[in-house]
Amino acid sequence: MSPAAVRQVACIGAGVIGGGWIAHFLARGYQVAAWDPAPDAEQKLRRLVDAAWPALRELGLADNASVDNLTVRPTLEAAVADAEFVQESAPEDLELKQDLLARIDAATPPGVVISSSTSGFGMTEMQARCATPHRLVVGHPFNPPYLIPLVEVVGGKQTDHSVVRWTSEFFEAAGKSVITMDREVPGFIANRLQEAIWREALHMVANGEATPAQIDASITEGPGLRWPLLGPCLTFHLAGGEGGMAHMLDHFGPSLKSPWTRLQAPELTDDLRDRMVQGCADAAEGRSVAELVAERDRAVIAVMRAIENVRQGKV
Ligand SMILES: NC(=O)c1ccc[n+]([C@@H]2O[C@H](COP(=O)([O-])OP(=O)(O)OC[C@H]3O[C@@H](n4cnc5c(N)ncnc54)[C@H](O)[C@@H]3O)[C@@H](O)[C@H]2O)c1
Repeated sequence: MSPAAVRQVACIGAGVIGGGWIAHFLARGYQVAAWDPAPDAEQKLRRLVDAAWPALRELGLADNASVDNLTVRPTLEAAVADAEFVQESAPEDLELKQDLLARIDAATPPGVVISSSTSGFGMTEMQARCATPHRLVVGHPFNPPYLIPLVEVVGGKQTDHSVVRWTSEFFEAAGKSVITMDREVPGFIANRLQEAIWREALHMVANGEATPAQIDASITEGPGLRWPLLGPCLTFHLAGGEGGMAHMLDHFGPSLKSPWTRLQAPELTDDLRDRMVQGCADAAEGRSVAELVAERDRAVIAVMRAIENVRQGKV
């Protein structure tokens, strides 16, 4: 089946993330079958979907989108019986996921892709007990999946390459922004970056170096305002002025060895320097440093105004 032709999705586990996926799929016009073993799961799920719906309506619903396209089924097997794609969002427990994915694999029609929302386990570990592991893949979302576009897609050692490609195309057709990874790394890309900041924040609080309020303000009043437009690489590309990333690395390279973080810095080899400089040139997509600066400034002003409007209750 082509990724864009999928209409029937099954969601296994319907808590914060499973419920968020369900709201997203419903808003995009899919039929959704859900299963969750908790006795009060259906009530909670319908509350979550109802609470998300106004934001989804504001963003624009698909023509055939409706909360009535959700059915909660009594068993896992019933939920996946007619699925054309399965998203698993059960608790982050390796043993539980290994058993659950093997059960899902056994019950899902052949050829249908099964994706896991795991925050950090590798699919290589999770697919260990599956009879047809080649169709299992990680599709890692961000909370709430109905608003945050990113999903990181990566297979395990036994996952077929074509399944990884199909899943990325499916998520794109379902309105997500997809990063397809060739290699498994714990935490994928975004959680490794978030975790580095999070650990440093906890170290600073534990050592009495900064309060949680100071840490939050250092991001929301500082670099966080640039991040909606530019990630950490293009942000530092601009920190190099007209010389861009090359000047930035040559100028601040020695600071990598300063005790600014509890993480050990990598060696700034010529190869790493070249990859960063070339990578930033690629990411800039032909825009000069001056053009990027002008775009960043407009974006920071727009983000600051948007935040102010929310704080004043105007939106
Ligand atoms: N919360 C986040 O910000 C976030 C972000 C990205 C990914 N994730 C991942 O999503 C997954 C779900 O996390 P969550 O935050 O929604 O947790 P949650 O506790 O809100 O929801 C988990 C749901 O799974 C159900 N469940 C329990 N045992 C089950 C089983 N055997 N089979 C099926 N369902 C079962 C529970 O009843 C619950 O409704 C985890 O793998 C987590 O790492 C979470």
